[in-house]
Parts: sequence; structure tokens; C-alpha cells
Amino acid sequence: MAASHWLLTSVLCLLPFTAHVSAQGCSVDNNRPSVSENNPIGYVVATIHVEPGFTATIDPTSPDASFFMIQDSKLKLTRSVDYEEETLLLVSVVCENAAGESDSLEIFVTILNENDNSPVFKQTNFTEVVPEDTKVDSTIIAREELSASDADLDIIYYELTTTVPATDGYFAIRGVNNPEIYLQKALDYEKFKQTTLILYARDRPVTSTDPTNTASATINIIIEQADTKPPWFLPCTFINEERSICISNLYTGRVNMSEMATEPLILEPGPVYAIDPDYTINERIIYSIVSGNTDNVFFMDTDTGNITMNKPASSPDSYLLQVMATQVNNIQKYSIANVEIKVINKSNHAPYFESRIYNGIVLVNQVPGSFVFQAEHPSSPLMITAVDDDFPDKVNPNIEYHINDNTDFTATKDGLILTNVVLQSPGTVTLEAVAIDVVSLQKASTEVVVQVVLATDVSSTNNPYSAQDMAILGGTLAALLLVALVFLGVMLYKQYGKKVNNMMRKKLSKKTSKGYHNQSYKQDEQPDVSPTAHEASEKGSVRSATDVQEQPALASVFPITEESESLPEASVASTVVFDQEKKEDEVEEEAEREKEVKSILKTDRQAANDGYKAVWFRTDVDPEAGESIEVIEDNAVESDDDSDQDLQRNEEEEEEEDDDKDHLHRGQGVSFASENSSVPAAEVAVNMSRADSLADDSSL
Ligand SMILES: *[C@@H]1O[C@H](CO)[C@@H](O)[C@H](O)[C@H]1NC(C)=O
Ligand SMILES: *[C@@H]1O[C@H](CO)[C@@H](O)[C@H](O)[C@H]1NC(C)=O
Ligand SMILES: *[C@@H]1O[C@H](CO)[C@@H](O)[C@H](O)[C@H]1NC(C)=O
Repeated sequence: MAASHWLLTSVLCLLPFTAHVSAQGCSVDNNRPSVSENNPIGYVVATIHVEPGFTATIDPTSPDASFFMIQDSKLKLTRSVDYEEETLLLVSVVCENAAGESDSLEIFVTILNENDNSPVFKQTNFTEVVPEDTKVDSTIIAREELSASDADLDIIYYELTTTVPATDGYFAIRGVNNPEIYLQKALDYEKFKQTTLILYARDRPVTSTDPTNTASATINIIIEQADTKPPWFLPCTFINEERSICISNLYTGRVNMSEMATEPLILEPGPVYAIDPDYTINERIIYSIVSGNTDNVFFMDTDTGNITMNKPASSPDSYLLQVMATQVNNIQKYSIANVEIKVINKSNHAPYFESRIYNGIVLVNQVPGSFVFQAEHPSSPLMITAVDDDFPDKVNPNIEYHINDNTDFTATKDGLILTNVVLQSPGTVTLEAVAIDVVSLQKASTEVVVQVVLATDVSSTNNPYSAQDMAILGGTLAALLLVALVFLGVMLYKQYGKKVNNMMRKKLSKKTSKGYHNQSYKQDEQPDVSPTAHEASEKGSVRSATDVQEQPALASVFPITEESESLPEASVASTVVFDQEKKEDEVEEEAEREKEVKSILKTDRQAANDGYKAVWFRTDVDPEAGESIEVIEDNAVESDDDSDQDLQRNEEEEEEEDDDKDHLHRGQGVSFASENSSVPAAEVAVNMSRADSLADDSSL
């Protein structure tokens, strides 16, 4: 019907336009009115002028008579008209009078189109599986499938959006009027595995202010992993932000010299193992050694990657194997990793600790890096030692020590236990210390029980000499020793001034400063030789440990304490100070007492008594004396003026220098190991007032 009306409309358009049409008895101003579609019911199309005596009726045979009615001489529409169904209505109005005269008026009603239809997609829900390796610019969904139609025959404007965050930009449409979807950017399965696109179709441009009808279609995109990546050896480290490249570290293993392992080698950090990162595909991987397999010593299992031996290693050189993992389906998808295999001497024995348990003691509030001391001998740093029966002297140079389960303490390579933090509260800490042979990787462990004590608690501990006391005494004694030395020097100078001076000068020219700092003595008797040694904490004795002798580095390892700032109040007392006047008196007494006990001052060398060290004076220089004879030099000896003032100054200078050298005077200074280890550490007994030290604290 619509089609026929179209035809009719075309024909009518060719006819001459007559605005006013009349028939006998009736007329209308315009017999070709137009009406917008979707009109209200009763819409007046035309007013009919009917002459008196005539009546106007609708000719029921006219094509569209059913659309019209006449009411009060008005031609009205009886229903709403849809342009998409009717574009032209034709109605005949018959005018008749009682005498039977009649005529008819043809009225053509043109229906005007309105934008009353939305675009329509043939399909509103799509699901597309897109391989990860789809080429950029490939068409994902064709235009025909996605084009929307519009009953108003409007031009359709398209827009594509996505509802999944971070998946923008991968898919696009070809143009605003071409809804074909294509891949705009390369896909990555690791980034997203699916997304949802919404395609909008509008019958006006998005910028138009006209009323616009819109339709939408949903496109679900599922990304399918493709075989894009080569194998990765595990464990591996990502080297790019996209995490698409993962590089493996070195695998390491060890074999015994001249011994053929029967089992697959155990490697660190794990067995040679590679995966296909395209895990949904998980292509089969095979392994091979590509280089470094000198003499074909090693064999790699193609399927498992396990490395076994074909023959024993005959040279101590390490093997650096390059191994390859490749996909069976495509050998160009491969990765290379390195395997270092060390050849070591067979270790038949694991190291072991001679002591099952070590007891240590340390003060609270010590700076990190302070020694833990031996609970039984608080003057000596605690040192753990593992022995190894594979070595003739049981000393395995490859052993390192670690503390396993506690970060408050550390162990040095030598087995000394140090604090790692400032220990705040007293208590008992049990540590597991481990000795590891870094070549054979054999281990031993032991227990270290450390008592953390308050400085004030020290006197109440069971130890005859607390660490604190030892520390105080260490400093005190070192100072006194110096005083004694200076004094001796002065006395000697007075007695043998010239000879010594000559000797010193000769020696100096050979040995410059080497001998200068030698304050070490050794006495062959226990500290209790001094009658005053046991007088509580005010007097005491220090015996430097023999193991300190074995570790000449000890003194220099000793922590430098920031004195009163970091030390508890009590330990300030340990800072060595002198009351010079008193001290000199004491030194004289001291020297006498020492002589009573056993003089270390000799006029000749006592070579017979091994281990016994003494100061002796010689009148000539024996060139064969070698390393075991050290010369004590003193500024006082060099000085022409031997007055007390000068002596005092020299002492102070020496003290300062010693502080810098090995901190013997500091609170914790307990050992007398000098840099010059040829003269062993000394045992000395002195007597000193602690009160004096306190009183003169500021003088240092
Ligand atoms: C090397 O020798 C030690 C001690 O006999 C043994 O425990 C170890 O398994 C050997 N290493 C290899 C790789 O066979
Ligand atoms: C040998 O290969 C198997 C399979 O990959 C693995 O489970 C095993 O750990 C490997 N053995 C060694 C000693 O690497
Ligand atoms: C292995 O032992 C030999 C002799 O037994 C020795 O000369 C060599 O230094 C040792 N190698 C290592 C790394 O300990």
C-alpha cells in the first residue's frame, strides 16, 4: 500500500498545484494537506466549506476512507499514522443535496516523516575468540555483521567502547560510519584474557543536538594464548615491566675430584628445569648441553634435564656448562642457561664443634658490633670453632660461621660472636651457630647461650671477674703499664742513658716506628701474684687470653665505643684517667712490688726460659736476635730534659696514640695484643684506685 501511495504521490506531484479546490456544494482551501506522522487521533486535516443544503460525507470506496471522518465540517484523522507504513492518504468527500445533486472532492494527505525509529542491529550479542598472536589490523568482526539499520533511513553513526578497565585501545572500528572491528594493538595474554566491547549505533552524529535514537551491541572478546614465548629456566627473574622475558640465574653443583657420581647431580638453587610460559599450550621441552662439557664428563637427560656423570672429573677446574631447553614443536623456541660444576676435594668428614654449647656474656646498651665475651673468662671475646678431621691439623680454612635464627647477633668468619643491635634488656638468649664448609657445603651447628646483663649486675654474676671489671682493669692496666714503661725508660736513661741512647739511634734507623708501640709483656705467673689483686673491684688483674695471641687482629677488631654517650653510667668509670701525682708514687711502689714477685727487668737476656718474656738491657746489638726481640723506645729516652713535666707530657702523648691504635685504654679494653705479635701478650698485676679514675674522668 505504501508503495502504491509513493507512486501516487509522484504522479500527483506532476499535476499542476491547485490550492483551492471546489466541487458543487463543497470546497476546501487545500486539497493536498500534509500531516506529520504519529499525529494525535482527531487531528484536523482540512475544513470543508459546505454550501447550504448540501452535506459532506466520506466516500467509503475511497482507498483510505477508514482513516478519516467528518465532524462539524472538519476532515479529521481517526488514528495515528506511521510514515513507515503510509506516506500518502487519499480520500474522497461526497457533497450531496436533497435534490440528489452530488459531487466529490479528492483530498490527498501527505504524511511527513519524523525521526521516530532507533537503529537496529541484526545481532546484539557477539562472542569472538581472538588468538593472542593475531596480527594488528586484522578484522575481528566484519562490517555486514555489525551494521545497524534504521527505519527512518537515517545515516548511522557508530562508536566502540570497552567496559573492562585497561583493555582500551586494542580494538577499534574502521570509521564512524563503518562498524567493522579490527585489532589496533598487539594482544598479550598476560595482560588480559578477555574483554567486553560495546558498539553504539546512533541516527545522529554524537555532537548533534537533535533528538537521537541509539542502539547498542555487546561483543565479548576471549583472548586465546598463543605459542609466543620460548621456554624459561626456573627460577628466573623478570627483566622487563611487562614480565614477558624471564632470565634464569646460574645453576651450581659440585663433584668430587676423581670420583664418578652415580646419582644425578644436586644443583643449587634447584634442578635444571624449564617451563613453557605459554602455559595453556605447555609445549614439550627437551634439554641438552651445548657447550663446556670438556671430555664429555657430563650427560644431560633429554627429558628431565638431570645431569649425571659419564666419567670422573680428572682436573680441579670447574666446568661451565651451557645448557639449552627447546620446544619440541619449534626448536627456535629455546633458552640457554649456565651450570657451573665445581670439582672439589672429597670431604670424608663434616666439620664439628668441639663444644656442644658455648656460654657468652654481653652488656646491655653496647653499640652494635660489640663482642660477646666468654662467660667463664669475660676478658676474652667468645669465639666458636669447628674442626674438620679431613685436615691434618683439623683446621679447615673453608669454614665460615653464621648465626641461624637471631638477627641480634652475628658471627664473623673467624667465629667471633658480635652484637648486631643495641641490646636493650637483660636476659638470656640461645642462638644456633652454624659452621659451614663453603667448599663441600657440609655443616655443623652448636648452641651459644648469651647472657645479656646490666652493667650494674656485673658484680652479682657468678664470674670472678665480670666483663665490666675486666674492661675497667684493662684500660687501667694499660695506662699503668705505660706509666711504668715510661718510668722504666726514665730510670734506665738515668742509669744507662748514653748506651741506650746510642743503641736506640742505631735501632731507630733500621726499624722506624715499628717497635714504638710495643707495650706487650708476658709474665709467667698468674694474676694473683700481686697481694692487692683481689681487693674487690677497685683492684684487679688482667690476664690476656692466649687465644687473643692467636688472633692478633682481635684488638683492632675491638669496637670503638663512643664513651659516655653510648655507655651506661657505670662504664664511664672504666675510662682510664690518671691522677698523675699519685700515680707516679704508685708506679714506684708498683715497680718494686713487681720486682718482688718476679722481675721482668733484666740486665741480660734469659734465653733458657721459653715463653718467658722480659725486658732486658743489652749493650750491643745482636744481629741474630731476629724477630723475637723488640726494642721499647720512649720519647723520654730521646729527650734531653728528663724533668717530671716532660715525663708527664710524654705519657699523655703515648696514651693518646694508644687510644688511636688499639683502644687499650677504653672501657672494654681487655686484651694486650699489640700489632707486633712477636712479643706475646702480657700478664701484669697492678693496683689502682677506681675512685681516682672517676674523679679525674674529665682530665682525659
Ligand atoms: C662427594 O663425596 C662426599 C663424601 O663422601 C659425598 O657425600 C658426596 O655425595 C660426593 N659428591 C658427589 C657429587 O658424589
Ligand atoms: C631429575 O629429574 C626429575 C624430573 O624432572 C626431577 O624431579 C628430579 O628432581 C631430578 N633430580 C635431580 C637430582 O635433579
Ligand atoms: C685438594 O687436595 C690436594 C692434595 O690433596 C691439595 O693440593 C689441594 O690444594 C686441595 N684443593 C683444595 C681446593 O683444597
